[in-house]
Amino acid sequence: MALQYGQQSTELLQAQAHVWNHMFNFVNSMSLKCATQLGIPDIIHRHRKPITLPELVDALPIKKARAHGVYRLMRILTHSGFFILENISGDEEKKGYWLTPSSRLLVRDEPFCVAPLVLSVLDPILTKPCHHLSEWFQNENLTPFDTAHGKMFWEYAGQDPRLNHFFNEAMASDTKLVTSVLIRECKQVFEGLNSILDVGGGTGTVCMAISEAFPNLKCIVLDLPHVVACLKGTKNLSYVAGDMFEHIPPADAIILKWVLHDWSDDEVVKILKKCKDAISGNDKGKVIIIDMIVDDGKVDDKAIETQLFFDMEMMVHVTGRERNEKEWAKLFHEAGFTYYKITPVLGLRSVIEVYINSISKSY
Ligand SMILES: C[S@@+](CC[C@H](N)C(=O)[O-])C[C@H]1O[C@@H](n2cnc3c(N)ncnc32)[C@H](O)[C@@H]1O
Repeated sequence: MALQYGQQSTELLQAQAHVWNHMFNFVNSMSLKCATQLGIPDIIHRHRKPITLPELVDALPIKKARAHGVYRLMRILTHSGFFILENISGDEEKKGYWLTPSSRLLVRDEPFCVAPLVLSVLDPILTKPCHHLSEWFQNENLTPFDTAHGKMFWEYAGQDPRLNHFFNEAMASDTKLVTSVLIRECKQVFEGLNSILDVGGGTGTVCMAISEAFPNLKCIVLDLPHVVACLKGTKNLSYVAGDMFEHIPPADAIILKWVLHDWSDDEVVKILKKCKDAISGNDKGKVIIIDMIVDDGKVDDKAIETQLFFDMEMMVHVTGRERNEKEWAKLFHEAGFTYYKITPVLGLRSVIEVYINSISKSY
């Protein structure tokens, strides 16, 4: 076939390779899911030294005739940085698979394990709507999730205990690391507060850590009834079942972690106005948002790509989006807040403290 557009054959072949690479991005995700489900990071971790392929095959709960598949699975995941091949001490010839910092985060016993998040994002309930994206561009449904499942995400989570359970676990697994960094790096965020309310706080992972670090701070978690119904509080931690669009109880400060990116601009302004009412009893009250600031010039290309992946996830599953600073500032202004401060200490996410007036920022 004749080359088109005057292109050189090498350019065309490079373009073909680029398409192939993107076409197969999902293979990387599914390989990661498979390794996580089979517990490969746990097996290597328990082995305490680099593990050879036969040792790994032996330890895996699989048919031994599939050993060739384990080699190929480990090869792609080693290529993408989840494992490394290292010499086994005392034997120059023998190599074994070892964990990288990324696969360490998939070890179940590790305190900051994110395996539940990986398995949640790649569960068929959440991947099915991706197949309906183009259909959604042409129909009237609010989200591709709605097109795929016939209901909105939060409604589905309220009706399906399996989704409710794995999604709450996923959020909790993400929150452990973020909260630990927040408390270590941003102690000042909590100074001077008597009460804090985590709106859309899930099963309370943020508040559990804060209530332990600051025993005199009264912590309250507000979430939908199916999320908090059976949860028991402690001396300075309590749970409230409710709808943040209806009522948000008063507190000195409100936390919104990974909540606002779930909602459209109009919905965010509604939530923020309710938060403003809830903190208005204290002239130093504030809202503490943990979310992404897209394209802030402080992250590299790969990080921007990850933020854009999240933005697509928000479009597929809920009515939300990831926002840049200008977009955030507009929403704060519309909700009646006059001052905000961004602290970019959470990797791809930031802490954004939002105040009713600039004098109150003296916390
Ligand atoms: C993305 S999750 C974040 C959970 C938690 N903040 C975290 O990061 O671990 C969003 C949370 O908002 C809750 N949510 C959704 N709609 C809500 C509503 N109308 N009122 C209160 N919470 C709601 C969900 O149940 C879910 O726990």
